[in-house]
Amino acid sequence: MAIAPEPEIVAAFEAAKGFMPKGEGLALYAAATEAATLGLPLLEVGTYCGRSTILLADAARRAGVSAITVDHHRGSEEQQPGWEYHDPETVDPEVGRMDTLPTFRRTLHAAGLEDHVIAIVGRSPQVAKAWGGPLGFVFIDGGHTDEHATGDYEGWAPHLADGGLLVIHDVFPDPVDIMTGQAPYRVYLRALESGAFTEVAAVDSLRVLRRTGAGT
Ligand SMILES: C[S@@+](CC[C@H](N)C(=O)[O-])C[C@H]1O[C@@H](n2cnc3c(N)ncnc32)[C@H](O)[C@@H]1O
Repeated sequence: MAIAPEPEIVAAFEAAKGFMPKGEGLALYAAATEAATLGLPLLEVGTYCGRSTILLADAARRAGVSAITVDHHRGSEEQQPGWEYHDPETVDPEVGRMDTLPTFRRTLHAAGLEDHVIAIVGRSPQVAKAWGGPLGFVFIDGGHTDEHATGDYEGWAPHLADGGLLVIHDVFPDPVDIMTGQAPYRVYLRALESGAFTEVAAVDSLRVLRRTGAGT
């Protein structure tokens, strides 16, 4: 049976700003908990305000590893002013651009999980290039253009250890299901076609793949 988070973690997740439904969150938590047994860090691309980070942080805490979360905190295309997923509260009035970092820090503090997370502010491909160690878990939930989703995959999948889990959010095989595009779906197909990954779970738009071979 899949390991579930404690009720206070579920409550913190549900109270946090963000886009992930509870069912996908529980599947993400189960995958992160399993991957954390490898004893390696858990990596997330796409922190936003910390909703999914709460789950990774708690899974990391239980296993004694760290959750690492990467975001430039300026928002994805569909979160900019005038777009469907824009939240005016995320705009820094002084700078005139989105800045989700303060909300993220408040979210993590309220959940009591600050000590288990390393937050990196930067562009995913740049951070990936500077990253040197193996990872037990890579969760891709960043930009939804082909450029960004492909950059996340190409940047981070090579760091995923054998047996580690690659989780991709917003995988929509049918284009009518989604307004933000099918780039995550194409990345998912590419990972399977590489022969390096085997699918182990699918919950709504979340896909969990295990590294079972070399390459990307
Ligand atoms: C869909 S949101 C993440 C949602 C979050 N995981 C949650 O559960 O609420 C996508 C995030 O990816 C970030 N992002 C988009 N492209 C990025 C890139 N190239 N590098 C770093 N962060 C990026 C955006 O700033 C945004 O906060």
